[in-house]
Parts: sequence; structure tokens; C-alpha cells
Amino acid sequence: MLHQIKEYLKFLKRSTNQHGVHSPFVYNLVTQCFYNKKKHADYTLINNYKKALLKNKMAIEITDLGTGSMYTKNNIRAIHSIAKNSGASLKRAKLLYRLANYFQFKTSLELGTSLGISTHAIALGHKKGNVISIEGCPKIAAFSSKNLMNHNITNAEILVGDFSKVIPKLAQPTFDFILFDGNHNKTATLTYFDILLPKIHNNTVFIFDDIYWSKGMTEAWEIIKQHPKVKVTVDTFQYGFVFFRKEQVKEHFTIRL
Ligand SMILES: C[S@@+](CC[C@H](N)C(=O)[O-])C[C@H]1O[C@@H](n2cnc3c(N)ncnc32)[C@H](O)[C@@H]1O
Repeated sequence: MLHQIKEYLKFLKRSTNQHGVHSPFVYNLVTQCFYNKKKHADYTLINNYKKALLKNKMAIEITDLGTGSMYTKNNIRAIHSIAKNSGASLKRAKLLYRLANYFQFKTSLELGTSLGISTHAIALGHKKGNVISIEGCPKIAAFSSKNLMNHNITNAEILVGDFSKVIPKLAQPTFDFILFDGNHNKTATLTYFDILLPKIHNNTVFIFDDIYWSKGMTEAWEIIKQHPKVKVTVDTFQYGFVFFRKEQVKEHFTIRL
């Protein structure tokens, strides 16, 4: 927690808004997507999806293959508590929605479905796109798969298993978007980054969640930024965005959402 506070103070000092961003690609992303104030009709569906989870008292047995919850080590947990502590916030879900819509992602991959809050938002953001989400806990995966269907999401599929076992079996040659949102530790994050690099094309977007969760995650983020294939990064504190566009000069931005 101390690490997060220290890093947040540093973030506040160095972060900016769109002013001073000279890259047209990043300027447009910030002004037209990050700061887009339009009230999309689909936001109601995003709100309703999370609201229903926050009211759900059903208990579920968790198998956590990652770093687990910061809040509890109990492996029987109520849906509402998982939604509150490990699911994407409404602000993040709406940002993911706008991002999928802005870039029109045709193929998205998510590591860490949990209750599908982010899966739902990405799938809604571009309904003609397809989302594959990987979840290691079979009970959560079964619950979320059914729940997404009940919310009329037909363009998302959940694959069950450990990321390191499922990723090598993915048939898609490339992905437009990959959200890294599970197993938040340095070694695992760098491993997933390395094994998914062959799946990029020039316009692929990676997002790493919780880049300041721990010292190790921040170290992983710094290593990723230095990778020769990485051109532009945008640090928004919770999310680290990575772009590989060969036409860009290597540059790192820090933007307040
Ligand atoms: C932070 S939650 C994902 C939240 C979700 N993206 C959302 O916004 O609603 C992380 C999920 O990743 C899963 N997970 C962690 N490590 C994993 C691994 N090695 N393989 C498969 N799933 C894993 C956990 O079971 C957990 O449900």
C-alpha cells in the first residue's frame, strides 16, 4: 500500500492532460476517447451489469491461480464481494467500452475474466468484434459465461484454465487488443508479455492493469516500456497502455484520467 501511495504522488507530479501532447495519435486518443464525455446509451447496460453483481448474494468457491485478493484469503466468496473488490470499476469499464469503440477492435483477448465486468464492456464497445477471455477458476468462469449470455452478450467467449496453458493453444494469429488483468506479479506479467508478443500487429494495443499494485509490477512496467518493439506508452496510473506503431517515435506519456 505504501508503494502505491508513493507512486501516486509521483504520478500526480508528472501527469498531464492533452496539453503538451505533441503526438497527434496520442492527442486524439486522449481527447476523443479518454476524455469523451458523450453519454453512450450502452453505459446503462454497463451500470446494470455491475449493479446486478453487487446485489448477488450467491456464494461461490474460488480457485485463485494468481496473486489473490488483497481483501480476503477465504476461498468461499459471495458474488457481490468479488464484484466490489476484484472487478473493474464503472469508470474503467466505460473507458474500455470507449476504447473498443474508438479503435473498433475486431479481436480482443483478456487475461482474467472474473465476473466479466470488463469482458462485457469490451464486447459492447464493438459488437462486431470478438472477445476471448481466459479465467483460471472454473466456477467463476461458468458463472460469468452464463451471466454474459443472460445479458445478451454473444460476442464473448470464456476459456477456462491457467493463462500459461491456454495462451499457447490460441488459434488467432494476432489480436487487436489484449488486456492483462490477472496474476499481477512481475515474473508472470513479463512472461505473458513475452508469449503474447508474437500475436501483435502494428496497431495492437496492450493494457496492463495495476502497474503500481506492487514494486514488482512497477518494475515489470518499466521493463516493458524499454522493450525495443514498444513505441508509445501511456501511463494512467491504474492502466499502462502500450502501442507498437512503427511510425511513432519512442515516447512515454503520463495522462490523468
Ligand atoms: C482482477 S480479476 C479480473 C477482473 C476482470 N477483468 C474485471 O474487470 O471484471 C483477475 C482474475 O484472473 C484470474 N487469474 C489470476 N491468475 C490466473 C492464471 N494464472 N490463470 C488463469 N486465471 C487467472 C483470477 O481467478 C481472477 O478471476
